[in-house]
Amino acid sequence: MATERTLSIIKPDATKRNLTGKINAKFEDAGLRIVAQKRIHLTKAQAGKFYEVHASRPFYDELCEFMASGPVVVQVLEGEGAIAKNREVMGATNPKDSAAGTIRAEFAESVGENSVHGSDAPETAKDEISYFFAGMELVG
Ligand code: CDP
Ligand code: MG
Repeated sequence: MATERTLSIIKPDATKRNLTGKINAKFEDAGLRIVAQKRIHLTKAQAGKFYEVHASRPFYDELCEFMASGPVVVQVLEGEGAIAKNREVMGATNPKDSAAGTIRAEFAESVGENSVHGSDAPETAKDEISYFFAGMELVG
């Protein structure tokens, strides 16, 4: 399998509870390398653009409010099959369905406030990484 890069976000519910280190340990233990990382506070409009694909969903407004409610840590994870591997480490969207040991099983508070975002495919990973990072910020 090829080396890939994927966009990860540690969401406001997790930064608020000081979980950045514990979540990063899950990534590193799974063999994912954090090759770029920064802590930022999104505006609702910036969150809205990022989650534009969900604009027609009933949870969209609440999701954008939540993503702008506190700081997030945006990061690029790299590794063999990183996109799928990260989704595995994250666990299912709804923590009630997340496998034991996953980030969402351990830390998520609800289906909305579920601690992490991860890209779902190579195309979205590329677009999402470039939404937050310039090429020269990815140091390998
Ligand atoms: O994040 P993931 O790719 O697992 O799920 P998604 O279906 O792409 O949804 C994006 C985000 O919207 C989720 O991570 C939740 O924060 C939120 N969401 C929600 O609030 N209520 C739902 N029923 C589904 C998703
Ligand atoms: Mg998604």
